Amino acid sequence: MFSLGFGRKKAPLLGLDIGSTAVKLIELSQARAGSAHTYQVESCALEPLPPGAIAERKIADPQLVGEAIRKAVARSGSRAKAAAVAVPGSAAITKIITLPEGLSDEEMENQIKMDADQYIPYPLDEVDLDFTLLGPAVTAGEVDILLAAARHEIAINLIIALEVAGLKASIIDVEPYALENACILALGVQGEDQTTAIADIGANAMRVQVMRQGRTLFTREQGFAAAQLFEEVEHRYDLTPEEARRRVIEEDLPETYAAEVRDPFAAALAQQIGRVLQFFYSATSSKPADQVLLAGGMAALPGLEQVVADSLGITTFVANPFLHMTLGPKVGVQLLQRQGPALALAVGLALRRFG
Ligand SMILES: Nc1ncnc2c1ncn2[C@@H]1O[C@H](COP(=O)(O)OP(=O)(O)OP(=O)(O)O)[C@@H](O)[C@H]1O
Ligand SMILES: [Mg+2]
Repeated sequence: MFSLGFGRKKAPLLGLDIGSTAVKLIELSQARAGSAHTYQVESCALEPLPPGAIAERKIADPQLVGEAIRKAVARSGSRAKAAAVAVPGSAAITKIITLPEGLSDEEMENQIKMDADQYIPYPLDEVDLDFTLLGPAVTAGEVDILLAAARHEIAINLIIALEVAGLKASIIDVEPYALENACILALGVQGEDQTTAIADIGANAMRVQVMRQGRTLFTREQGFAAAQLFEEVEHRYDLTPEEARRRVIEEDLPETYAAEVRDPFAAALAQQIGRVLQFFYSATSSKPADQVLLAGGMAALPGLEQVVADSLGITTFVANPFLHMTLGPKVGVQLLQRQGPALALAVGLALRRFG
């Protein structure tokens, strides 16, 4: 039953982000003793996914996805046979529960299995369930445990896609929790006591989460993302969808594009982030976030960082999860520089190798 594992894994592990538009893969190792950095990037690859592979952020065709993963692994040169993957926050139920401190893993597991039907609104034989220890709870003598459950069918398509690529799914994580790890790294120590809002702006969805002291307090997904910009460009300049996407990424568009399309889109994104944060503040009576981190492919949109900072009045950064890492011989610095924010989730997953 406990196959949604957060387990400690030291063997080579691929962090594999299966997004709507591309498969992204990272392998990390511990940097050499004496190095100023903790991790080394051993391999990295991105492989676009064909239409029909993913629908509504779920795997629709495991064969197509598996083939893309196989290509990405081959290109990366990695020999790892196991991967950490994630399900979207919307596909999993997560809950923080408290247990008495000092229980063994087995005792915790038994206790959670006994009480799980209180927390999970599905029949327990239809879900994969896992837990991880977060740390001391507010009440002395208790610890906080993160409980996660996903329906079998979601995990099964992931496992099949990985099998097609010759890989084993050794960890199935939940996206916001995996992203959290990459962001802690991108922030460095200065972020420890601060409230950080993360916006992962993908192809079809934007995920906003709020983190304090290394823990995610709140997550929200919504449909306003890159696809809206590409559609606008497609119609306004009479281009095919592929052409529109390529030209946005390469900034190969008429002069009117920046002022009339890109900047209003950036302003709308900033406004959406602001709305989610307002909701979070009023629901939790929290003080405003100290900083905003932008992740996902859209984070690289020119000017977005400034527009979000101005609109929200909060210091804003584009997440660079490789800030404190050395690069192995198989990894090109340009790919990491260009795709840093898009690779944040894959980095968070790759970090699961180290517990
Ligand atoms: N430099 C860039 N400028 C503008 N758009 C970009 C840039 N780089 C990537 N993109 C686009 O940003 C979008 C989001 O990329 P990302 O890799 O985060 O998506 P994804 O993970 O596949 O999607 P999702 O997370 O929604 O499933 C993609 O459509 C991608 O084409
Ligand atoms: Mg994504």
